[in-house]
Amino acid sequence: MCGIVGYVGGGQAAEFLVDGLYRLEYRGYDSAGVATLDGHGVLHLVKTAGRVDRLQARLERAPAPGAMGIGHTRWATHGAATDANAPPHLGGDGSVAVVHNGVIENHAALRQRLLADGYRFLSETDTEVIAHLVDHCLKGAGPDADLAADGYEALVAAVAEALAQLRGTFGVAMMFRRRPGVLIAARRGSPLIVGVGRGEHFLASDASPLVGRTGRIVYLGEHELAVVTPGDLRVVHRDQGRVRHRVEQLEIDSGQVELGPFDHYMLKEIFEQPETIRAVMAGRIDHDAATAKFGGLNLAPHELRAVDRFLMTACGTSWHAALVGEYQMEALARIPVEVEYASELRYRNPPLCGHPLVFAITQSGETADTLAALREMKRKGYCTLGLCNVVGSTIAQESDGGIYLRAGPEIGVASTKAFTSQCTVLAMLALYFGRLRHLSFDAGLRVIEQLEQLPEMVAGALETNDAVRRIAEKYAGCDNFLYLGRQFNFPTALEGALKMKEISYIHAEGYPAAEMKHGPLALVDANTPSVFIMPQGPVYDKVTANLQEVKARGGPVIAVVGRGDTEAASLADDVVEVPNVDDFLQPIVSVVPLQLLGYHVALLRGCDVDKPRNLAKSVTVE
Ligand code: G6P
Repeated sequence: MCGIVGYVGGGQAAEFLVDGLYRLEYRGYDSAGVATLDGHGVLHLVKTAGRVDRLQARLERAPAPGAMGIGHTRWATHGAATDANAPPHLGGDGSVAVVHNGVIENHAALRQRLLADGYRFLSETDTEVIAHLVDHCLKGAGPDADLAADGYEALVAAVAEALAQLRGTFGVAMMFRRRPGVLIAARRGSPLIVGVGRGEHFLASDASPLVGRTGRIVYLGEHELAVVTPGDLRVVHRDQGRVRHRVEQLEIDSGQVELGPFDHYMLKEIFEQPETIRAVMAGRIDHDAATAKFGGLNLAPHELRAVDRFLMTACGTSWHAALVGEYQMEALARIPVEVEYASELRYRNPPLCGHPLVFAITQSGETADTLAALREMKRKGYCTLGLCNVVGSTIAQESDGGIYLRAGPEIGVASTKAFTSQCTVLAMLALYFGRLRHLSFDAGLRVIEQLEQLPEMVAGALETNDAVRRIAEKYAGCDNFLYLGRQFNFPTALEGALKMKEISYIHAEGYPAAEMKHGPLALVDANTPSVFIMPQGPVYDKVTANLQEVKARGGPVIAVVGRGDTEAASLADDVVEVPNVDDFLQPIVSVVPLQLLGYHVALLRGCDVDKPRNLAKSVTVE
């Protein structure tokens, strides 16, 4: 949701800004714009509702020259996606241009005050409130505070004064018409990264726009403000004053953010899964002790040994991974698990006795509800672990310890490879905690053996692609789908339904297979396919009985089964065979044809697979 870019240096800013906005498209947005400042002190503002393509077309007609600028993709919160509400926004008479991620909660009160002070608003956005407020504080600092030859001190003080009045979250970047050559960026609850180049600096709300531009980056911390000029970067903390910043290496290469031979990022990411699962396990298996090992848990062995329950919290697909984790932990570690939507947990007050460990599971590491739930749990004194994909993300920074998913950038809005990496990490954690308790050495080795075969098994599941495409052709016209599975594959059913819903806009419901008798069975008819996830395992016979109940009512059945299953093949209308694995790993293999089914149906229905309507990759508002 929303993306920020900025540039100050010797090149043409608009070139980086537009390219960067294209790279940020995946986050979800509905308007875009740039502002540049040219060598004559003229500010160029070009913005539009709609896609970056439209912005690009406008820039071809009315270029925005200048060696510095800021740009934004906006996902509408305050005010519809119109040209007037499109970013950037100007403060005062155009003295300052601002782009902003996040939500300003007290924008209405601030707007009233600014209106009373004579400011005129051209948009309904909370961003414009920030722009006018900065202008107001600059004017309050004296007639020429923005020009003071004091190393930007007055400028920084005015911006800090404005930011201090904001309630809510923000990542902001701004520039000043009378002060060419300096950008100011700041964050509170919304990420910002500075890319360090030669005689130039870049700004971005995530690393993707920086790939191929520079390999050196600085993550801004909470309550930090950066003063960025072509040759200098200075970081000031709200309470500590000037702080030393750490330049880190950007570990993403351009291949990871480009499509390559694939038509869509979603398909590319589905096919990356054997590799991403290998990556998440690399160096984390300890054969000698028949367990898993993790570098970043930041807990002493006796603290880990004392953990007697888990609370897992997440949103969307990550929440489904948490449900898989619940079954895995119970099976391998025999530790009770509670899974809670982050949006619910943040306002709940669950009584947790004993020594719980809280897991925040998130691809982006920025989901607003997950972050808020994490903070609430930390405030209560619980120990927290972040399972994040995006390196340096807010949740990764704020958790007490963590495990990175190492899945590389996930660009398709519908999460795929992050899910299988999350389930793999959770299986490894279940092994780890199991081995701290009752799980024998031999049982541990058996789990490791299964884990190590997983990439190959997922590669085997990808071989279903052609068969799944044919099934998709048969059912793409249906308006409803049911997804049914039991035990470990109940969350797989939820995830399969979510994939279908997100990208093809078909109504799809996931249920524990036996629960269908308590409602969903009423939906079954000749036009409502039921997808049964039923690899061999302890509940196979039970699910087969559920399948027959659907068939008896005339519903078409697509069955995802283990290789060599002739029984299901004789009952179902369509069958997809996946490699056989132990039940605790089945979701990771069985979900693959479901991801592919969602993908092919969406494609056949002409949907924008990577950028589904109304959705965002990273949901940074409550
Ligand atoms: C959005 C995305 C989903 C994702 C969810 C949670 O809704 O579209 O794909 O599962 O957010 O995101 P997170 O980054 O916390 O895993």
